[in-house]
Amino acid sequence: MNAGHTESPLPNLDDLEVEGRRVLVRADLNVPLENGAIADDLRVRASLPTLQKLLERGARLVVCSHLGRPQGKVMEELRLAPVGRRLAELLVTDVLALEEVIGEEVERACASDAEVVVLENLRFEPGEEANDADFAAALAGLAQAYVNDAFGSSHRAHASVVGVPALLPCAAGLLLSREVAELERLLEDPEPPFVAVLGGAKVSDKLGVIRNLLERVDSVVVGGAMAFTLLAAQGHDVGGSRVEHDRLDEIRSTLEEAEARGVDVLVPSDVVAAEGIEEGSPHEVVPLGEIGERMGVDIGPETAGRFGDVIAAARTVLWNGPMGIFEIDDYAAGTKAVARAIAEATSKGAFTVAGGGDSAAALVELGMTDAVSHLSTGGGASLELLEGKELPGVAALRKERN
Ligand code: 3PG
Repeated sequence: MNAGHTESPLPNLDDLEVEGRRVLVRADLNVPLENGAIADDLRVRASLPTLQKLLERGARLVVCSHLGRPQGKVMEELRLAPVGRRLAELLVTDVLALEEVIGEEVERACASDAEVVVLENLRFEPGEEANDADFAAALAGLAQAYVNDAFGSSHRAHASVVGVPALLPCAAGLLLSREVAELERLLEDPEPPFVAVLGGAKVSDKLGVIRNLLERVDSVVVGGAMAFTLLAAQGHDVGGSRVEHDRLDEIRSTLEEAEARGVDVLVPSDVVAAEGIEEGSPHEVVPLGEIGERMGVDIGPETAGRFGDVIAAARTVLWNGPMGIFEIDDYAAGTKAVARAIAEATSKGAFTVAGGGDSAAALVELGMTDAVSHLSTGGGASLELLEGKELPGVAALRKERN
C-alpha cells in the first residue's frame, strides 16, 4: 500500500537564487470561464503568495499556465488575456500579457525590464502536452530559474511541468509545497476518527482513492451520482439513476475489503428523485428503492443527518465531490449539509481537507471556503496524490541536480 512520498524534501523558494533573475513560474490558472469572464478566480488568488514573494526578492517573472483543452491549437476563447488582467488587478502591478507562448517577441519581452510577463496559453503549442524537448528548451530559455506552483497540473507530465525543471535551477512554489504537505498529512498521520466523504459523478474516478484510504479511514461516506453505482453493487434498486455497470465487480471487492478492515461505508437511505436534471423538474424526497423511473439527484434529509453526525464527530475529514447536483438549488441541500458538518468539525479542531474541483466549486458557491482547514486547488492532481502516486511534476523537482 502506498504512503505519501517524502523521500527527499521538495526544494523550496528559499533554496533558489532569484534576485535579479527572470524566473519562469508554472502556475495553474486554469479557471472556469463564463462568456469570456472568469467565473471563479480561486486559482489566480492561490498563485499570488509565490508571485509576490518572488517579486519581493527582486525577481522578474514570466508566468505560464494552460487554460482548458485546446489540443495544440489556438482557440480565441481560451486566450489567457482575461487571466493576465485579473493577475494585474490582484498583484497591483503591470502585467504584460503576450499572445504567443514562445518565439522572438516572447524572448524580447522576457529580456526586457517588464516585471511580470504572462505567456499565452501553453496548450496552444502541441509541444506542451507532448513534453517535446525543443519546446521545453524554448521555455527554459526564457528564464534563469524555474518555479512550479501549479499543483493542479502536476499530475500531467507536460513540458512546462516536467521538461523545464530538468533544464533550470528549480523549486516548488508556496502553493505546491502546501498542497503536497496537507494532502500527504491525510495519508501519513491522520488523527482518528478519519472520515472520507466522497461524491461526484463517477465511482470509477474514486476507486483508487478509496482503496488507498481503506487502511487509514474509519468511515467512508458516499453520496452524489457515484453512490448509485455503489448501491447497485450492494443489490439495491436505484431506479433510473446512473450506474457504471462495468465497475460493479470491482466495487464489490472493495466493499469486501472495507468490511474486512472494519471500515464503515455509509450510503444514502433516502434521496431526492427527479424526473429530469434541469432546474424546475418535478422532484421529491423518497426512500431508497422508490426512485422508480426517476433518477437520484441529491441525498435526502435523513441521509444528510446521518452523514452529518459522523462527519461532525470526526478529527480528520477528506471531502471530494458533491452529494448531488448542487449547481441547482433544489438539489443542493445534501451538499450544503455536508459542508456545514465539515465546518462544524473544523471549528472543533479537526483537520479537514476539501479536494477535487467540484467540492472546491461547491464551497465557493456556498461562500464557505473557510469551512475547511485546507481547500485544495487540485482536481485530478489531488486524486492521484491520494491514490498514493507521486505526481510527475513533484518528482521532477526532487530530481538529483548535477
Ligand atoms: C485541472 O483543472 O484539474 C487542471 O488544471 C488540469 O487540467 P487538465 O485536466 O485539463 O489537465
